[in-house]
Amino acid sequence: MSTPPEAAFTTGILLILALLISAGHSHAATESEAEALLDWKVSLRDPDALSSWNKAAGLCSWRGVSCNDAGRVESLRLHGLGLAGTLDKLDTMALPALTVFDLNDNNFVGSIPASLSQLHYLTVLDLGSNGFNGSISPQLSNLSGLVDLRLYNNNFVGDIPYQLSRLPRIVHFDLGSNFLTNPEGYRRFSPMPTVTFMWLYLNYLTGIFPKFVLESGNITYLDLSQNNVSGPIPYSLPEKLPNIKYLNLSVNAFSGQIPASLSMLGKLRAYGL
Ligand SMILES: *[C@@H]1O[C@H](CO)[C@@H](O)[C@H](O)[C@H]1NC(C)=O
Ligand SMILES: *[C@@H]1O[C@H](CO)[C@@H](O)[C@H](O)[C@H]1NC(C)=O
Ligand SMILES: *[C@@H]1O[C@H](CO)[C@@H](O)[C@H](O)[C@H]1NC(C)=O
Ligand SMILES: *[C@@H]1O[C@H](CO)[C@@H](O)[C@H](O)[C@H]1NC(C)=O
Ligand SMILES: *[C@@H]1O[C@H](CO)[C@@H](O)[C@H](O)[C@H]1NC(C)=O
Repeated sequence: MSTPPEAAFTTGILLILALLISAGHSHAATESEAEALLDWKVSLRDPDALSSWNKAAGLCSWRGVSCNDAGRVESLRLHGLGLAGTLDKLDTMALPALTVFDLNDNNFVGSIPASLSQLHYLTVLDLGSNGFNGSISPQLSNLSGLVDLRLYNNNFVGDIPYQLSRLPRIVHFDLGSNFLTNPEGYRRFSPMPTVTFMWLYLNYLTGIFPKFVLESGNITYLDLSQNNVSGPIPYSLPEKLPNIKYLNLSVNAFSGQIPASLSMLGKLRAYGL
């Protein structure tokens, strides 16, 4: 039995309609991503470095922007471009495919908007070496794909949110050189088994050696220098952190002796005590 011509015709029309709708949809998506980035650009001070961000050029060719196969913005790498402003006017909802967001070494200020946690596919968030301030949003812990979090060299204050210790895939964790404190006894912090870089130097950490750090068994690089950590250096450190290659505990308030067990750390390259 052959398909009646009428049915074939209707199917054809439906197919064409479906194609038109999907093409229109992805075009509209690109448009709203471009709008969102232009609205943010307008809010920045001296965005000279972003002159390629204009409607005459395709979004995917803009400086620092790269797109995935579907033409959605996949990464924003704006490292060291002299940009200044805040993230307040960035509509994260318009950039659902973003995986890499790098603003390292600019002059951004203000707080990290909680809306950043809507970037569900984010794997790299690098806001290091800016003037970001306020407290670190616990909502960042909703970024369950995050592998690399760099917030170092900013003016963040307040307690390190314990929620960040629950990031399931985090490998590089750098909060160094801020004004961060810790809740007494790091209450509610969990071990971070996926972390290899634990950078907490130059903050206002007090109390004894953090237990969650000692229990993060894959740490390879650990810098707790320039804080006010007190009490003994745990004798069990080499046993608990067998992969450690770099350990810096200098400029703290540790008491007692340097445990002889540290000499067991075969892979250790450097430590300042
Ligand atoms: C962050 O810094 C900006 C500009 O320096 C200031 O206006 C704002 O009050 C600060 N915010 C917080 C939460 O400290
Ligand atoms: C985001 O994180 C906060 C704090 O950790 C939590 O209370 C909230 O339920 C999370 N939201 C979503 C949508 O997962
Ligand atoms: C180290 O990482 C591996 C692979 O991610 C994991 O299976 C293991 O449990 C971790 N080890 C520790 C001591 O946390
Ligand atoms: C360091 O911590 C001790 C308590 O352990 C406190 O008495 C001292 O004031 C702290 N020093 C600084 C510089 O914060
Ligand atoms: C350890 O940290 C101190 C202070 O942050 C720094 O001056 C020193 O160079 C570091 N030591 C090593 C071996 O990296």
